[in-house]
Amino acid sequence: MAIIGKDIDEAIRLLNDGEVIGIPTETVYGLAGNALNTDAAAKIFEVKNRPSFDPLIIHTNSIERFTTYVSEIDERVYALAEKFMPGPLTLLLPRKTIIPDLVTSGLDNVAIRIPEHPLTLELLSQLDYPLAAPSANPFGYISPTSAVHVNNQLGDKIKYILDGGECRVGIESTIIGFVEHEAIVYRKGGLSIEEIEEVVGKVKVIEHSSSNPQAPGMLKSHYAPKKPLILLEANQGINTNLGNIAYLGFQFYHPDIPLENQLLLSPNGDFREAAKHLFAYMRQLDAMDVNYIYTELLPEKDLGRAINDRIRRATVKE
Ligand code: TXA
Ligand code: MG
Repeated sequence: MAIIGKDIDEAIRLLNDGEVIGIPTETVYGLAGNALNTDAAAKIFEVKNRPSFDPLIIHTNSIERFTTYVSEIDERVYALAEKFMPGPLTLLLPRKTIIPDLVTSGLDNVAIRIPEHPLTLELLSQLDYPLAAPSANPFGYISPTSAVHVNNQLGDKIKYILDGGECRVGIESTIIGFVEHEAIVYRKGGLSIEEIEEVVGKVKVIEHSSSNPQAPGMLKSHYAPKKPLILLEANQGINTNLGNIAYLGFQFYHPDIPLENQLLLSPNGDFREAAKHLFAYMRQLDAMDVNYIYTELLPEKDLGRAINDRIRRATVKE
């Protein structure tokens, strides 16, 4: 298994060697490597078992450093960056050639963000390259929100995981890009669309579509636990022939399922608390002695939209 620790010097040593390591961010843990080193980027795809047509987000520690990696930072982009970075926002911007093809899967834009985590910001400030980092989960599985989650799934493939505690946000960053003059949200995430619209006005939101995996975070069967997750429609009964059943609810317990098999995302109905718990609770229920996990959707607003997006993808059956 990997070593879990807070040793930034060790992290730097491994990264300088071209290794990949686990790093904390405020959204989810990342599997990080030197974004300017093609071998390190290739290792990320290999460890994650991720297809190389699915590009990586690069992480840096300041808006000033953006100009090394991207061109065309217009006023709107600058306004978003100033307001929300560091934070759970990823911008798709025209890349400079210093960014390897493998990182962007050959696309002209690179995804870039500044994670809001003190340990990782400190790490990034000591590196003279950005870190490419997808979520540190095997392709198709739920993203990790603690160092132990990373170790459980990738610990036999990496040497070190920088431990930054539990992720504060708990779901991945919101990805926004610009086509002509239109702002487009490609992935709903930890920064709500309402907050973004306060800065740039109305944005277009791409709902996920399996036929258009332009950004493969948009692939439908993403973020899935191993046990089947079944979405309960309002007033739908429980099928008791299914064996042992667990329930992942928002505020209220389900009356027909044993209480010890249930977890609530936020009894107070707080979207931020719900996002923070989502993936960890999916994992917990997945590990229980149950055959199926029932769940429900949250109100479709604020972070409820990003949470519902993850739940819908996890519940889709092929
Ligand atoms: O919160 C996050 O964004 C986390 C933490 C670790 O920073 N990272 C993350 O990375 O969620 P990943 O690789 O699991 O998801 C990134 C998504 C993918 O769906 C990818 O297709 C999309 O971003 N993406 C990356 N670069 C892109 C690009 N150049 N153009 C379009 N989509 C891109
Ligand atoms: Mg991911």
